[in-house]
Amino acid sequence: MAESSSLYAPDWLAYPQEPAHLDPAIWEASFQRTASGQVEVDGLPVTQLAQDYGTPAYLFSETVFRARASRFRQAFEEAFAPYGGEVSVYYAGKSFLTTAVAAWAIQEGLYLDTASGGELALAQGAGVPGERIALHGNNKSAAEIERALTYEVGRLVADSVPELELIGRVAEGLGKQAPVMLRVTPGVHASTHDFIATAHEDQKFGQSMLAGTARLAGLTEAQLAELGLSQDDSYAAVALALAHQSPHLDLRGLHCHIGSQIFEAEGFAQAADRVLTFAAQMQEGLGVSLPELDLGGGYGIAYTQQDAPRSPEQVAGQLASSVMASCQRLGISLPHLSFEPGRSISGPSGATLYEVGTIKDIEVEDAEGKTRLRRYVSVDGGMSDNPRPVLYEADYTVTLANRAPEGQQLLSRVVGKHCESGDIVIRYCYLPADLKAGDLLLVAATGAYNHVMASNYNYVTRPPVVTTAVGGTARLMVRRETEEDMLQRDLGLL
Ligand code: LLP
Repeated sequence: MAESSSLYAPDWLAYPQEPAHLDPAIWEASFQRTASGQVEVDGLPVTQLAQDYGTPAYLFSETVFRARASRFRQAFEEAFAPYGGEVSVYYAGKSFLTTAVAAWAIQEGLYLDTASGGELALAQGAGVPGERIALHGNNKSAAEIERALTYEVGRLVADSVPELELIGRVAEGLGKQAPVMLRVTPGVHASTHDFIATAHEDQKFGQSMLAGTARLAGLTEAQLAELGLSQDDSYAAVALALAHQSPHLDLRGLHCHIGSQIFEAEGFAQAADRVLTFAAQMQEGLGVSLPELDLGGGYGIAYTQQDAPRSPEQVAGQLASSVMASCQRLGISLPHLSFEPGRSISGPSGATLYEVGTIKDIEVEDAEGKTRLRRYVSVDGGMSDNPRPVLYEADYTVTLANRAPEGQQLLSRVVGKHCESGDIVIRYCYLPADLKAGDLLLVAATGAYNHVMASNYNYVTRPPVVTTAVGGTARLMVRRETEEDMLQRDLGLL
């Protein structure tokens, strides 16, 4: 019986008593199983979508995206309103970006966070006004900076002293003043289910706020003194003093981002407190003005039953009260706040539709030496369209989508079609014992960091993105890559 295979299921994966049920914590309301047994997205049956667009295909609900984007914006605005705080919510485009998506984010009142010249080019193509765009990155090229300044983006988030200097030089060449934020390292590292606050942070992003790191800037005592600093100050203080001095930089404030897919409020509160404390010290000591604070993104979503994300209102409410508490403790006024949610907006908006191919049962030995069955279900995509299970051991939820999953459910492993044994889409899931080739599987919450991280491994073409909206409309947002597309970069050298 199926229960016996639960020997291999992780603790969080329960044998499904109602296999046809789509857990609303994981599946947004746009994903519904109808009386016929098949799943519809915004009212469109997956069999129809598969017939019209083929598989594998990324399905992306405009309805869900717009609702989540505006809910996050409102939640942050409303959480800070009682304190008279002003808030800007930037959608982190790196999580999922197309021309339409950039436009939807702006229409819902958000700003757009871009992380490269390419993302910026896409935003420009979508007609996003420059002042609603931020440019990120820890190694921006002069060309990327020039593009951003020429397009008059609202802000560039500088990652380091050398980058501030480069931005200053490019701005000077263009006869402009660049609006900049400085990214600092808050010394808080958060990841799924836990976070650690450390004195030192060994990672590539941001400039250290720790006392004594000023020496790393390579300036002499005299040069530091000219900036009003000494060796006892921090590297970030050097960055701020240099930015403050430069006629080509308009220093707006500080930025930090502590990680991604985070569930607890505490890491954010600690980071905000550290950065606000530093801002207060700098405003007082150096006389710089830092009217803005960007606390990044990173809010977790539910991929499986083991994830319990907070609602946007809880996230925003907890952040507002901790930021206020820090400002009161420090005796400073509330800065203009910005937030950069990506996954929490785009992730639950998307799902991936695959067709089942070969199904293989193998025997494996369990810890007691007993032989058990393991079922491998191959689909027509894999690590090229979703590298996250391989990269991060990410878990996902899948459901049989062209008909109701009924009867016995078998612990199964969904794998891709790539030449690599690690090519796993879903490590553990229950699928009906009568699953067969030609059935359709729908994987939940693939809207973030899938399409944007897809590859051509094994010369597999990348899937299309089909966008759906309430009222039952489907539109092709990104077409399927063709073999011609893929091969045209090979110049045929023999
Ligand atoms: N702001 C900054 C400065 C960031 O670096 C990121 C993500 C975000 C905002 C948005 O974070 P989100 O709200 O989406 O968690 N490829 C990884 C995630 C990398 C995130 C990079 N930075 C994944 O697939 O999980």
